[in-house]
Amino acid sequence: MARLPQAFLDDLLDRLDIFEVIDRRVKLKKAGKNYSACCPFHDEKTPSFSVNPERQFYYCFGCGAGGNAIGFVMDYERLDFREAVEGLAQTVGLEVPKDDPRGGREPPKDQNKPLYEALERASKFYEHALRQHGERHKVVNYLKGRGLTGEIARDFRIGFAPAGWDNLMQANGKDEASQDLLMRSGMLVKNDKGRTYDRFRGRVMFPIQDQRGRVIAFGGRVLGDDKPKYLNSPETPVFQKSRELYGLWQARKHPRRIERIVVVEGYMDVIALAQHGIPYAVATLGTSTSETHLERLFRIVPEVVFCFDGDDAGRKAALRGLEATLPAMQDGRQAKFLFLPEGEDPDTLVRAKGKAYLENLFDHADPLETFLFEHLAEGLDLESMDGRARFSKLAVPHLHRLPEGVFKTLMYQALAEKTGIDVDSLKRLQPPPAPRPEPGEAPAPILDGPPPTDPEEPPPENVMPIEEPMVKSLSPSSLNPIHRLLGLLVLKPAMVGHVPDALLVTEGSRDAVLLSEVVAHIRKYPEVTTAALLGFWFGTPEGDFLNALAGRETVEEDADLEALCTALVEKLSRHPALDAARQQFETLKQKPYGELTGEEKQQLLALTQEIRALSGRA
Ligand code: UTP
Ligand code: MN
Repeated sequence: MARLPQAFLDDLLDRLDIFEVIDRRVKLKKAGKNYSACCPFHDEKTPSFSVNPERQFYYCFGCGAGGNAIGFVMDYERLDFREAVEGLAQTVGLEVPKDDPRGGREPPKDQNKPLYEALERASKFYEHALRQHGERHKVVNYLKGRGLTGEIARDFRIGFAPAGWDNLMQANGKDEASQDLLMRSGMLVKNDKGRTYDRFRGRVMFPIQDQRGRVIAFGGRVLGDDKPKYLNSPETPVFQKSRELYGLWQARKHPRRIERIVVVEGYMDVIALAQHGIPYAVATLGTSTSETHLERLFRIVPEVVFCFDGDDAGRKAALRGLEATLPAMQDGRQAKFLFLPEGEDPDTLVRAKGKAYLENLFDHADPLETFLFEHLAEGLDLESMDGRARFSKLAVPHLHRLPEGVFKTLMYQALAEKTGIDVDSLKRLQPPPAPRPEPGEAPAPILDGPPPTDPEEPPPENVMPIEEPMVKSLSPSSLNPIHRLLGLLVLKPAMVGHVPDALLVTEGSRDAVLLSEVVAHIRKYPEVTTAALLGFWFGTPEGDFLNALAGRETVEEDADLEALCTALVEKLSRHPALDAARQQFETLKQKPYGELTGEEKQQLLALTQEIRALSGRA
């Protein structure tokens, strides 16, 4: 089979969120940093299936199934690689390119990686300024004045862009490449005269993070009353406003599984709510709520509450939210609308009245049907026939946009009751059916709902191709330093720099050879991600093995991973000495203890200690 270009596959993996891909098919539950479920690939009563959103892979402790998002869809829907890729590509609006004529794996070219890195550096720069800059007290006082603690500032990575035209530029180096990168990531502006300067100056900085926590843009607020109050990053290759929601990363990262999400208008609303124990608010970013936003939210929670100002702008925003919500209203999902009193926003309210008050408002917000019907009936006299006729004409196109289901039926019935027109007649008011969407416009049907099930067919067994003998020699052990190191490299390929050439072999134990292969692969493709690495070995016994090693690794924090990696490398590098000591020890142990000379006994004791020390258990 001719291969798809690697750059395309990388782009696809980059746009997919494995949580969304799996959760759509198997309901996931929050479990610490990860998500878990009962494994769809083997029969079990307690969940051993785990999804790691940060590293974008899944693993089952029960049956060892695992891999990246593409592998999951292949196994779950029993598709071949190409079919799985095509279905997934459609969901993220990517076109599958023609087969790569060269047929080889190209080095992954993640063109966006430098942008992510530049944005991360910028965020660190602003966060640092909030801690160190001479003017920091102004911002700290401002944030304190708004009731925020240092802890919440840290969670949201709030920073400070000091006054001045080129602080960020200077910090990044004035060379052309650095400037170009900053420009492409939206951090600089060029004026008419061709002068370039920092976009954000003298502002409190709110980094916008994507579904994986990467910084992709910023919002910056003035400290006083200057205009504009907020400045936002422009759209860039890594920032599309209609996809991203401020605060979603923090909400999802929250250790408690959230049951609903509240959509609010501003950055400070999200943060103030989190500060007061409501960690499930998100804000759109200077744009109206899109269908993409809603799809994303409903995959995480069954209930979305729009919470807007009661003023004109707020009502308009709510109406756009309503429009975006209609197609997403599958049965079991709920959308609500809450309008706050004039002059209040969630930030001021939660500070004045607290969490319980706000949550009570959320609980009692208007359900979608109330808001829709009340809005449409505005200015109409439903007592008159003419009013009811106009009302139904207005309402039907909206109801028509609801997905088929009980909710839609109920909405038609409700409209029938309000207007006295029977459901069938109402349905005849529908606009003519839209032409079939072109391929690529709509998600493939296989991706909606559960996969087709065939009652005749036995449940899948051994979905992952497993070659027995190989798997035996490749059984993971957390005590084996090579295994441990392999797992770490899969989780964080960038740590390859810690592995010295001395550890690389071309022959020897399978483990050692695999380590060398993995290291060689990462060195060749330094940008490779966990998901892509697993994709490279997918479907081979080595792939299963690597996946198991990564899946079983209990260390999660980056710093701990680094420390463990260094320790393992050191341990492995000491192996020659350890081997020698063990051999000597074994030789001496052959002799009956009584026959050992005093010197030999001493030696034996010394060797025991040496072996302990060398194998890191001293
Ligand atoms: P608001 O004007 O309602 O401000 O803007 P706010 O969130 O209450 O701000 P604080 O409480 O004074 O800090 C709501 C949202 O609209 C966008 C921002 O995303 C803001 O959070 N906005 C507002 C801008 O993009 N630019 C602006 O100049 C103002
Ligand atoms: Mn406000």
